[in-house]
Amino acid sequence: MKFAKTVLVTTAIAAGILSSGAAMNIACADEAQDKIIIAHRGASAYLPEHTLESKALAYNMGVKYLEQDLAMTKDNRLVVIHDHFLDRVTDVADKFPDRARKDGRFYVIDFTLDEIKSLNFTEGFVVENGKRVQGYKGRFPMFTSTFKIHTFEEEIEFIQGLNKTMGKDIGLYVETKAPWFHKQEGKDISKATLEVLKKYGYTTKDSNVIFQTFDYPDLKYVVDTLMPKMDMSLKTVALIGKNDWGETYELKDGKWEPFDFNYLLNPKNYPEIAKYATGLGPTYEQLFNLKKTTKDHIVVNDLVKNAHINGMIVHPYTVRADALPKYCTDVNELYQAILIDADADGLFTDFPDLGVNFLNEYAKTK
Ligand code: G3P
Ligand code: CA
Repeated sequence: MKFAKTVLVTTAIAAGILSSGAAMNIACADEAQDKIIIAHRGASAYLPEHTLESKALAYNMGVKYLEQDLAMTKDNRLVVIHDHFLDRVTDVADKFPDRARKDGRFYVIDFTLDEIKSLNFTEGFVVENGKRVQGYKGRFPMFTSTFKIHTFEEEIEFIQGLNKTMGKDIGLYVETKAPWFHKQEGKDISKATLEVLKKYGYTTKDSNVIFQTFDYPDLKYVVDTLMPKMDMSLKTVALIGKNDWGETYELKDGKWEPFDFNYLLNPKNYPEIAKYATGLGPTYEQLFNLKKTTKDHIVVNDLVKNAHINGMIVHPYTVRADALPKYCTDVNELYQAILIDADADGLFTDFPDLGVNFLNEYAKTK
């Protein structure tokens, strides 16, 4: 392994170059000097994503946070699922063949919780020529054993229960999926998410939860309106997508327009963004200068530095040892580039064991 290089947020603080919007984030940025591994959808490389089984496995691998992606059901319950569709990860097309929308997709929001719980959950697949083809070939076999979708409340109780029995304090890393879409359907997923978090005692910046979303306009609504109204103030992360994903839309002059993620990549906006976000969640490639990067030599850019100057932490996503970019031959090269060379404060990975192992080896050199 390579290691070396430590750039601390305190350097920026001591130098007096933190922006005015950064002050409220300093405590969180200080914490971030301890780099962390976030279990992306649980230990999703080893067990189907977001199942409680995959969360338990990740928990025992030594992560600091377990991730929850959330969508809302027809009867207004929050379920832990990555897509706001059911078709990639369940047998919904077999059980409810007539319930797809015109686009052929089966939407979580069109099904009650009872209906969703009747589905079998599986490792993700795509349908090619009428056949189900597993997305990640080396992962858990499709439609084997029995897995079910669970509610957000069930997952919180599961993690809090484990925290009690294992004597740890592992956090939630909660993502509201497509708040803009839920709004179009007349539902406020962010309000529902905060209500559940409040019920389970997560209310302040000291609470062991990070609220993340790709929907920056909705994040502003959460911070400006919802949290003050609900007497809450949680740590937040603004996720940065790519414009061609169609990840987020915003209402402009009564029309839903694609959100331009370049706003979140431009450091000139960071003092303003820091008023809303404790941190940024870019793709790991957004930390690299890909024009200068060559095989086994990753060149990093200033994204993390600029975030740190503005008091924001950075948690990029998603490292997958079985889907490395072409410029990497070993997952540790990628962990090194993100956590050490680019100086990110943590990262999301499908392989929490490998990420934790990397940080343990790194700690031995300190
Ligand atoms: O939330 C960080 C990461 O999970 C974002 O990607 O699409 O897996 O939710 P996604
Ligand atoms: Ca996510």
